[in-house]
Amino acid sequence: MTGPAPVTTADPLVGRFRAMWTQLAGIGRDPGTGGYLRYAWSAAELTCREWFTTEAVRRGLAVRPDGNGNLWADWIPSGVDPAAPAVVTGSHFDSVPHGGGYDGPLGIVSALLAVDELRERGFTPARPVTVAAFVEEEGGRFGLACLGSRLLTGGVSAQYALALTDSDGVTVAEAMRAAGADPAAAGPDPDRLARVGVFVELHVEQGRALVDLGAPVGVASMIWPHGRWRLEFTGAGDHAGTTRMVDRRDPMLTCAHTVLAADAQARRLGAHATIGRVAVRPNATNAIPAQVHAWLDARAADDTALATLVEAVGAEAAARARVDGTAVAVVRESDSPPVAFDPDLTDRIATAVGAQLPGVVPVLPTAAGHDAGVLAGHVPTAMIFVRNPTGVSHAPNEHATDDDCAAGVRALAAALADLAGE
Ligand code: GLV
Ligand code: MN
Ligand code: MN
Repeated sequence: MTGPAPVTTADPLVGRFRAMWTQLAGIGRDPGTGGYLRYAWSAAELTCREWFTTEAVRRGLAVRPDGNGNLWADWIPSGVDPAAPAVVTGSHFDSVPHGGGYDGPLGIVSALLAVDELRERGFTPARPVTVAAFVEEEGGRFGLACLGSRLLTGGVSAQYALALTDSDGVTVAEAMRAAGADPAAAGPDPDRLARVGVFVELHVEQGRALVDLGAPVGVASMIWPHGRWRLEFTGAGDHAGTTRMVDRRDPMLTCAHTVLAADAQARRLGAHATIGRVAVRPNATNAIPAQVHAWLDARAADDTALATLVEAVGAEAAARARVDGTAVAVVRESDSPPVAFDPDLTDRIATAVGAQLPGVVPVLPTAAGHDAGVLAGHVPTAMIFVRNPTGVSHAPNEHATDDDCAAGVRALAAALADLAGE
């Protein structure tokens, strides 16, 4: 952790944002790429969580982990029933490999600053206000996105989740134990969930819609359905120099064809398909691979288009496998159904934000997954997006200006005040 940088700005909230942001900036940052390696339960993510606990306690919030490793910091003014359903806001600290700094942490920093804003104005909530930090939202370490919120809500069983492994073979249970958490406590938490009255996640926008619309913040309408599939291509390992081309059964060829097919099918359907991760065995320059695993991330505007896309990619992979003399298996790893955020809540937040900030508050769909998408199946949920000047995300140059981040804090404070008021 580095100390706060000196700040000169006319807007004190911009200065407060920059000071907090600077405290996190060095944690888990790879100096080579400039991206972040904040995997769930890693030293870097644990340092972020310690920072969160310190900042929350400094504000007089009571911080508790749940059995799944999610952190909850409760602001319960005297006279407010601690068991009443809370207005909950927050996001996650974990990153994709070499990801940007804003995806996740912006929602948590903004939540703490929004609490400060409300207090500075003398606002006292009529129900608890809680800041949450969810664990393993990206699935960057154990492969299953939104692991903490899925466990909380029973969307995945503890038995299944605890056995997931990272690339070194470490299980979720082992990673939790190493971090001092008890995996036996993992699983659905209906009591905690019952205390979430409403959830609002602030997030950096992962596209350029707000830039094009000239708005610093917007609200989300829906999340595209999406999922992850492991494509297992099996062939015959052999010598790269001596095996005649006609004798080969090379699974890399089948994989390469499938990468191109996924791209073509996604373009045909107006959907998104990405193969951004492959594992090759034996992974040697002078050996024909015996096996290639590739991970397909597929997303579409509706379930039918998504199913059509994945079926078409699978069919093209199978057809090419016959040509190459290889085999292919398609294994679904995760599934995120479409999410329509609560329209009344979204309207209410857009109105509350619009009353505080000049200009329109656009309502946008997104193709990115979020803990808000998981919670939306259980409680009224909404999202606030903060403009991203390049639209880049899941990459080191993901960015939002300090001025827009301050606008995001003001928007979130307006939403919290509206939801937690009398
Ligand atoms: C999470 O950010 C995802 O959309 O994969
Ligand atoms: Mn995120
Ligand atoms: Mn992300």
